[in-house]
Amino acid sequence: MPKVHCLNKISPVINSVFNKDYQIVESIASADAILVRSAVMHEIDLPKSVKCVARAGAGVNNIPLDKYAEEGIVVFNTPGANANAVKELTIAMMLLAARDIRGSMEWVKANKEDELINKSMEKAKGAFAGTEIMGKTLGVIGCGAIGSLVADAASKLGMKVVGVELSEANKKRYAELLKEVEFVDLDELYKRSDYITVHVPLLDATKGMINKDSLAKCKDGVIVINAARDALVNDDDMKEALASGKVRRYVTDFPNYKSANTEGVIAISHLGASTEEAEDNCAFMAASQIRQYLEKGNIVNSVNYPNIDLGEKNGVRLLLLHKAGDELEIKANEILSGSIKKYVNGTKGNFAASLFELSKKPEEKIFSSLEGAKKIVIID
Ligand code: MLT
Repeated sequence: MPKVHCLNKISPVINSVFNKDYQIVESIASADAILVRSAVMHEIDLPKSVKCVARAGAGVNNIPLDKYAEEGIVVFNTPGANANAVKELTIAMMLLAARDIRGSMEWVKANKEDELINKSMEKAKGAFAGTEIMGKTLGVIGCGAIGSLVADAASKLGMKVVGVELSEANKKRYAELLKEVEFVDLDELYKRSDYITVHVPLLDATKGMINKDSLAKCKDGVIVINAARDALVNDDDMKEALASGKVRRYVTDFPNYKSANTEGVIAISHLGASTEEAEDNCAFMAASQIRQYLEKGNIVNSVNYPNIDLGEKNGVRLLLLHKAGDELEIKANEILSGSIKKYVNGTKGNFAASLFELSKKPEEKIFSSLEGAKKIVIID
C-alpha cells in the first residue's frame, strides 16, 4: 500500500483522492510520496523509498530540484491551482497602496475612545487620502497563470495594462485573459507603469530584478506589488527608493526582517494562496498527480523531469528516469522491443524520462543492462 507523508498541513481534500489503497503516514521513513507546502526541503535527505514530491503551490524554491532529480525523485507543483486567490490578493494590495487604508484603520483604532470620532475623523481623513487605480497603468511582469488573471482583472477595473511575458506558449494559453495587454519590453514597462506587479518564479535570473537600476527607470512615486517571492526585490535598494520617494509604496506578501522593518512597506503575512478554495485546489491537484505517477508512471506538471503521459494503463509499465543524452531510452527500446505496446519519452534540462507499456513483465536482468539510470520502476 503506497504511503504518503505530509510535511505541512494539507487540505483534507487529499482524502478524497487517496482511496483506501493509500496510507497517510506520520513518519517520512518509508514514504513513497511527499506532499509539501512551504516546508524548506533543502536540508532534507529523503529516504530511498521516496519516488516523488508534490508541492501544493506554484513556487518550488523550497525544494532542491536538481538534487532530487539526481536521486530519481520526480517533483511536481500545481500551476494555476491557487492563481485566483493570488490574483484577488494582488488587487487588494494595489487598493491598499492607492489610499492609506492601513493608516486610516490604525487611526480609528487609536481614537476609538473618542465619543466624537465620527466628527474628528472628518478632519483627520485627509492624511489618508490617495488616488484611484482606474486610468492608471499597471505593469505586469510575468503573464502566466497568475499574471494573466491579474492583467484581466486590472483592465476590467479600468487600468491600462502593459505586460512582459517571455513564454510564447503562455501568451497563447492565456490569450483570452491577455487580450487587453500591450506587450512591451522590461525597460518600457518600468518607464510607463504607475503600478508594477511581479509574477515570476524566483530563479537566478530573476533574483533581485527589482533593484536600484530597474527602479531608476521607473516613474517617480511608482507603487510596487510583490505577491511572488521576497528575493525578487533587493530590499536595500527598495528602502532607499522608498526614502527618496521614487517608490510611493511597496506592498509585499513576502516580508522578511529587512522589509518588515522598512518605513513605507505594507507587509502581509504570505496570504496569497491562503483561501479554502486555493488550498483545496492545490491539494487535489498535487494528490492526483501523485496517483498518476505511482499508478501509471504518467508525469504531470513536473518541475525537474519532463511531462510524459501514456494515458490509461492497459498492461505492465516500465518507467526509466535517466540523464538527457545518455541514450538509455534507445537501449531500453532495443531490449524491450518485442513487448512494447506504447512508448513515450521526453527531456527537461539535464533529465529525461521514458515510459513503456508492455505486453509482459520484463525480466529483472533489464536493470543491469540499463546501468546509469536514475531510477527504473516497474508498475504492474
Ligand atoms: C505558491 O507558491 O503558490 C504559494 O507560495 C503557495 C503557498 O502559499 O503555500
